[in-house]
Amino acid sequence: MPAPVSAPPPPGSVEFDEPSGTVVLRTAASCYVLRVDRAEGTVRHVHWGAPVPPADAAALPAWAGHDDSFEGRLDGVEEYPVEGGARFGVPALQVRFADGSGSLEPRVEDVRITDGDHLVVALRDRYRPLAWELHYRVPPGGDVLERWTEFTHTAGPDAEPVHLTRCSSAHWPLPQRPGWRLSCVHGGWSAENRLERTALAVGETTLTSRRGHTGHHAGPWVVLDAGHADEERGEVWATALAAGGSWRLTVQRTAAQRAGVVASEGHEGAEIPLAPGHRHVTPVSVAVYTPGGFGGVSRAFHGHVRRHVLPHPEELRPVLYNSWEATSFEVCEENQLALARRAASLGVELFVVDDGWFGARDDDRAGLGDWTPHRRRFPRGLRPLADEVHRLGMSFGLWVEPEMVNADSDLFRAHPDWVLHLPDRTATELRHQLVLDFSRPEVTDWAYGWLHALVADNGVDFLKWDFNRSFTEAGGHGGGPVRQVYIEHARGVHRLLDRLRAAFPALRVEACAGGGGRTDLAVLGRTDQVWTSDNTDAVDRLGIQHGFSQVYPAGVMSAWVTDSPNPLTGRSVPLAFRFHSAMAGVLGIGGDLTRWTEAEIEEAARLVQRYKDIRPLVQHGRQDRLLAPGEGLLTAVQYTGAGAGRTAVLVWRSSTSFGPAHPPLRLRGLDPAARYRDEDTGAEWSGATLMGYGLPVPALADGDCASALAVLQRTA
Ligand code: DGJ
Repeated sequence: MPAPVSAPPPPGSVEFDEPSGTVVLRTAASCYVLRVDRAEGTVRHVHWGAPVPPADAAALPAWAGHDDSFEGRLDGVEEYPVEGGARFGVPALQVRFADGSGSLEPRVEDVRITDGDHLVVALRDRYRPLAWELHYRVPPGGDVLERWTEFTHTAGPDAEPVHLTRCSSAHWPLPQRPGWRLSCVHGGWSAENRLERTALAVGETTLTSRRGHTGHHAGPWVVLDAGHADEERGEVWATALAAGGSWRLTVQRTAAQRAGVVASEGHEGAEIPLAPGHRHVTPVSVAVYTPGGFGGVSRAFHGHVRRHVLPHPEELRPVLYNSWEATSFEVCEENQLALARRAASLGVELFVVDDGWFGARDDDRAGLGDWTPHRRRFPRGLRPLADEVHRLGMSFGLWVEPEMVNADSDLFRAHPDWVLHLPDRTATELRHQLVLDFSRPEVTDWAYGWLHALVADNGVDFLKWDFNRSFTEAGGHGGGPVRQVYIEHARGVHRLLDRLRAAFPALRVEACAGGGGRTDLAVLGRTDQVWTSDNTDAVDRLGIQHGFSQVYPAGVMSAWVTDSPNPLTGRSVPLAFRFHSAMAGVLGIGGDLTRWTEAEIEEAARLVQRYKDIRPLVQHGRQDRLLAPGEGLLTAVQYTGAGAGRTAVLVWRSSTSFGPAHPPLRLRGLDPAARYRDEDTGAEWSGATLMGYGLPVPALADGDCASALAVLQRTA
């Protein structure tokens, strides 16, 4: 007789069945099972997927590979594979001891659960002075798991350091499936977040940044499915790494159809010296399993970012104006005042002066590092402008790029040794600038000093924190080993942001790296939004935003309406389309408002008002990608408020083509029994009809670049 099936414990819990060594972590929709074998010194993976009852979890067999002399029986099935023994898969941990050896032989020391939601499995090497703890946590209220690892050098003070050459946050083993598909993003400057969905090759696929920052070229996350998932249905597994420096995600698929992801801070060759008695803690790796398709994965991540990552998730982000595309480096008190007055008349809530306000910054060749107001352009300093912006009813924001210096600057002349460099190599300039080494406390102390004064003296409410080049010649001149800085620089930036925010609790920050080159869960933990891309072409943006939305919520996705034709692509796009594209995130305006006609200003003011009306849905609501860009003529996204009381649908047709009428937009996430009224047309439908038959596509103008916004309110 089968054992009675007991009701599974509630989500957010960790259970430990001591006799079998089985640990079960539960989220609302998933279950993660591992087994600790103290005698063998192993922590094996058992299951990650749909919930299973406790009795079954303890009885499930732990995976094991073939037992022949060419196989590693533990390959792909260990929670945290190390280099050493009969292991031939991707290691999560690689080290170099003082004698050059790197082989590890783990022993299980302890298994403990704290606070009911936090599991620690403590391991150490059998003979060498290295201990590591695997941490697992089930953050309350969501559907994600968190993992990270902590390393300790356990020898006395006279011992040599242990070098960690790959010290991953986690290995996430996936079940056996006949076909695996990988979704990830790639791209470049002004072309971020191009979503790619391809069959996962047998072997190892690595996504990485070797740039010292998160990067435009790949994002630190992967989504995997068995080949059949869509936006609404199908099992999907995903993981994202909260790292801001170099990083590496290696996805492995074996001939036995197992897959797994090893997620690590640092690229190959980046190493961390661990001194005796010292501890190193990896960044958190966040993972999701859902049977609810790609949309389910995105909503789990969005919810997690809002619940557990952002400093102020309860806030609505203001409509901002940014000067960059209007005045470039030519900012001065007069032209900013003229823009600020027009911006205020549109309903803008935050006015941001971009690059060019400081030092001798007449172009990108000079001035970075000298953070005092440009004498000719702001002879009275910034305060009069800030005061006038405040008087106009807006918050005041400033662009800064604290981690960079031009060789032509007083800072570089005073501290040439502060930049990343190697003693006998030429320091490569990119955009005429060099990177300051923020792994050095004297450098971050200097930055804290001027940032503190800048914010305090000028009533600065918001910083746009930019970073405009990747690392080169990043070396060990500060005493650490070569390439440690690829990890430690970003950690220095994070500490500085934390310090600044503690000093100014009302300060809000936008993360930026030449557009979206610094988009990750680590930076989102200490900023409020990210600048998505320097590409402000409203059509290109639909694709960039689609990729962004896979992991990050619309409430952090900064998007501007700029001039037409677009300065980057030359494409002419109607104002409404430009607005609708930017209204899908945190709306901003970045055009030269002094050249907008009165009719354009009036239309813009109406659309800003409309955005403010739907802003809670966009920034805090549930997001459903109804139609992906490039898959048909239409792109559509839906945002639904709490309790499915109100929903907004944005629809775009970037280019037209003769053909049949567009099929209705099948909405999601509504109450089937409720009725919803279109706030513009008055048409009324049931939730069941809107989800089953669909919303008739709102009227679109003829021609290319047509768009519409429909808002439906629940009536009963
Ligand atoms: C890159 C940013 O992404 C732009 O928005 C702008 O701030 C420039 N840097 C200024 O140099």
